[in-house]
Amino acid sequence: MAKELFGKTNDGSEVYIYTLKNAAGMEARITNYGGILVSLMVPDRKGKFVDVVLGYDSLSQYVASSPYFGALVGRYGNRIGKARFKLAGHEYALAANDGPNTLHGGIKGFDKVVWSVKDVDSKEGNSLALTYLSKDGEEGFPGNLSVEVIYTLTDSNELKIDYKATTDKPTVVNLTHHSYFNLAGAGNGDILGHQLYIDADRLTPVDSTLIPTGELKGVKGTPMDFTKPTAIGARISENDQQLKYGIGYDFNWVLNKKDTELKLAARVEEATTGRVMEVYTTEPGLQFYSGNFLNGTNIGKGGKKYEHRFGFCLETQHFPDSPNKHSFPSTELDPGQTYKSTTIYRFSTR
Ligand code: BGC
Repeated sequence: MAKELFGKTNDGSEVYIYTLKNAAGMEARITNYGGILVSLMVPDRKGKFVDVVLGYDSLSQYVASSPYFGALVGRYGNRIGKARFKLAGHEYALAANDGPNTLHGGIKGFDKVVWSVKDVDSKEGNSLALTYLSKDGEEGFPGNLSVEVIYTLTDSNELKIDYKATTDKPTVVNLTHHSYFNLAGAGNGDILGHQLYIDADRLTPVDSTLIPTGELKGVKGTPMDFTKPTAIGARISENDQQLKYGIGYDFNWVLNKKDTELKLAARVEEATTGRVMEVYTTEPGLQFYSGNFLNGTNIGKGGKKYEHRFGFCLETQHFPDSPNKHSFPSTELDPGQTYKSTTIYRFSTR
């Protein structure tokens, strides 16, 4: 695995980029700053490779400001309402970094820390193992949380992400990956023409601050129904209260599945290039975010401007605000238990 210096963080830590390759010529470049997937080269139907994830050319740009481009997100991906939760008789106060709520682990989440790199042997392909110890009280969360994330690029054109964590006090954990994809190539237009399928009959509707109301609502007859492949842009401007709250799609779908089986959650196709991406996960939920807050201020790789909806995210996860919604699948992790989760992004063409 090739390793090159990417730069130094503000406190002087050296940060590297690691390159994973597979037999088909795919290449993933990952930095141990935030565990960020910096680039992902994927072939189209003619065998032409382009980079399908949004991001920056330099570490300093990621450090200065990034809407979680390609990052590992934790300790709690997505939102926790009113920046607080109760667990094992204690109330924990977190930073409110998204209106009244906590988003993506707080002010300095796992996307902004330097991860350690560990050697790993994998039969499945080139792997990079990243570890991080999140101290008791970091960003307000209880318990020393020891986290390991393994990225593997397989010869079947899959980017596989295996997450693991243990704690020494009851805590909450919800880890995810935050790539913004554009299957026509990063910076090459918006994603409104991509056809999306999500294997979910229900979603968790939200209030105006994007916190779930607690209901599970059927998608049938609404712009949220992706049970048949539909262009992302086909209904995004419809007069719908949820779409107004999200300024487009920014919701958690309840995947049709039992327990923690690894199962197809979503498929996206881009007709002009023929690129197809499938998402498999052991998680119960999927946040589909249509890049609504991109507005051209982020100058991406190769100087390309990322305008409104130039990328979409499919974040596999437990449901938002689960620590305060006891009817949702639990995100609690106790000492002696191991948090485990797997997500695969599989690429093909048609
Ligand atoms: C959230 C969006 C947020 C974005 C960060 C997504 O996971 O759902 O609301 O703006 O991350 O850029």
